[in-house]
Amino acid sequence: MLLHLPSAGQNRSLSLGMHLAVLLFASALFVATFALDNGVMRTPPMGWLAWERFRCDIDCEHDPKNCISENLFMDMADRLSEDGWRELGYVYVNIDDCWSSMKRDAKGRLQADPKRFPGGIQKLARYMHDRGLKLGIYGDMGTHTCGGYPGTTLDKIEIDAQTFADWEVDMFKFDGCYSNATEQEKGYPLMSKALNATGRPIGYSCSWPAYQGGLPPKVNYTQLGEICNLWRNYGDIQDSWDSVLNIIDWFFENQDVLIPAAGPGQWNDPDMLIAGDFGLSMEQSRAQMALWAIMAAPLFMSNDLRTVSSGARSILQNKMAISINQDAMGIQGRRILTEKSQIQVFWRPLSKNASALVFFSRRTDMPYRYQTTLSKLNYTTGSYEIYDVFTEKTMVLKDSTSFVVSVNPTGVVMWYVSAPGKLNRRLFYKGGRLQGSEYDDDDENNFPRVFL
Ligand code: GLA
Repeated sequence: MLLHLPSAGQNRSLSLGMHLAVLLFASALFVATFALDNGVMRTPPMGWLAWERFRCDIDCEHDPKNCISENLFMDMADRLSEDGWRELGYVYVNIDDCWSSMKRDAKGRLQADPKRFPGGIQKLARYMHDRGLKLGIYGDMGTHTCGGYPGTTLDKIEIDAQTFADWEVDMFKFDGCYSNATEQEKGYPLMSKALNATGRPIGYSCSWPAYQGGLPPKVNYTQLGEICNLWRNYGDIQDSWDSVLNIIDWFFENQDVLIPAAGPGQWNDPDMLIAGDFGLSMEQSRAQMALWAIMAAPLFMSNDLRTVSSGARSILQNKMAISINQDAMGIQGRRILTEKSQIQVFWRPLSKNASALVFFSRRTDMPYRYQTTLSKLNYTTGSYEIYDVFTEKTMVLKDSTSFVVSVNPTGVVMWYVSAPGKLNRRLFYKGGRLQGSEYDDDDENNFPRVFL
């Protein structure tokens, strides 16, 4: 290597460069001070959220079981802690719109509706914490919330952040109704700063991108990752398969923009899980769970945990689907194929060199037998152990072996694929004879195997 001594002119540009570097470093530090640094939600948050299922039902007189009241949130907390949800990671109990009184208190603070929340929000937070759960709350950075309750305009951001911290709230969803783009540009970062300044780690969910079309150049995903823990990119989910499909299509059509935005502490949010409600079949519920896991999406159920069917419960409590969703690397998965047959294939890289595959049928006729090989799905040479997430069957597959999956209409087959490993041949010798032709599959023209 030639040592090149800088001339006087070069020296000047060198020191200019250094100044620039110092300046850049200093401004990076500056930005870092204002970036969201609350350490929470290193994996997608999980829990329960009131909105999709219970909306703005405030008629406690006629509908005491379902109205937005402290009883509803305590009921859900009881179910989460007693029916096996909490242990699986479902720990947030999130209040959405319509919780507050129409008036701020004498000191200008938001207050809960006194009839429906006689104990106040702080008591509810304690109820959650006593059970190893967390409490989330909702606000809106415009003049009003979407449901018409008092908003958190720019001048109210600090006081509201402090109020939530005083109540010991653990998560805050900041909606965007009745605000404009200029206000949002100020308000969302300001709230991030205000939440940080309280010193309480509060997960921060921003609806900002959903109000700006969800895509660059209007949406700056780098900035969102710096100020929010999760963000709603797109419209509200409804209790229908149409709505779920519409969301799936938007997220995967825009995957090249969305995937780089996600990672530990910062997640794209395609909205709540509606499995357990009225609009989805069991196949469709599995499809939602599988694709939300592929997307590294927050898992907030919005259903009635008091009456959820055992079928829906077993889908929402599927350990492998949850562990795929919660993978520590936090890399959002992608759609890798859309076939003419209307089968789509999704893939997500996971830690330990593993991965997840989802075969999704957009057909509406009958179960479709989709034939492929792992190598066609970009897997490198080797043998892979496959675990079928919903049937719990395991098998070993070579990259070159043709296989068939039978995918039901509007349903999925989901696989956890372990890292390729060398097969231990000794395992298959018994009494001097090779056992189990399943592993001895050198003939690439074999009949495809069928996995149902
Ligand atoms: C908006 C949000 C929903 C919900 C409602 C409440 O529509 O996107 O998730 O919070 O407001 O009014």
